[in-house]
Amino acid sequence: MKFNDDIRATTSGADETHKLGRSLAALAEPGDIICLYGDLGAGKTAFTKGFCHGLGYNPDQVNSPTFTLIHEYRGKTLPVFHFDAYRIKNVAEALEIGTEDYLYGEGVCLIEWPQRIMELIPPEAVHLYIEKVSADVRSFLLTRNPKKPAN
Ligand SMILES: Nc1ncnc2c1ncn2[C@@H]1O[C@H](COP(=O)(O)OP(=O)(O)OP(=O)(O)O)[C@@H](O)[C@H]1O
Ligand SMILES: [Mg+2]
Repeated sequence: MKFNDDIRATTSGADETHKLGRSLAALAEPGDIICLYGDLGAGKTAFTKGFCHGLGYNPDQVNSPTFTLIHEYRGKTLPVFHFDAYRIKNVAEALEIGTEDYLYGEGVCLIEWPQRIMELIPPEAVHLYIEKVSADVRSFLLTRNPKKPAN
């Protein structure tokens, strides 16, 4: 992704998170891996919808891949691979579903619950931390430096 210094933002409501995702998509490059951290309902999927929208995909077609683990969006300049690792049991299962082909491919990977598959995440990945400030307010930190586990 085309950034060096940490990027911080605060949004109020899912629409603003969508817009944030949409504008940060301008920084995307082939092969990017974006790890998305935050509690259930933090806004990881909301952000991803906006990000996909920014890359030319229909945001209405971007939904949580919680049950299918990976959704692929293709046909525009950059393919997008949206992972939700919440239900991945272990690294072996992640490998079975072809995770490495996606991680080392030419698309952009957005990964919800990356903690589940951390051993597979290459060091070039970038990290987006989302925190619930209140019911509608979320704070975002996009950084190249992962925080220590516990998140
Ligand atoms: N500022 C905000 N940004 C994003 N979502 C918000 C915001 N304020 C309220 N919300 C609400 O929070 C929820 C975010 O849901 P979303 O599915 O994006 O979360 P998630 O982090 O993907 O959760 P999960 O881990 O369950 O997949 C939505 O119901 C949305 O309307
Ligand atoms: Mg989600």
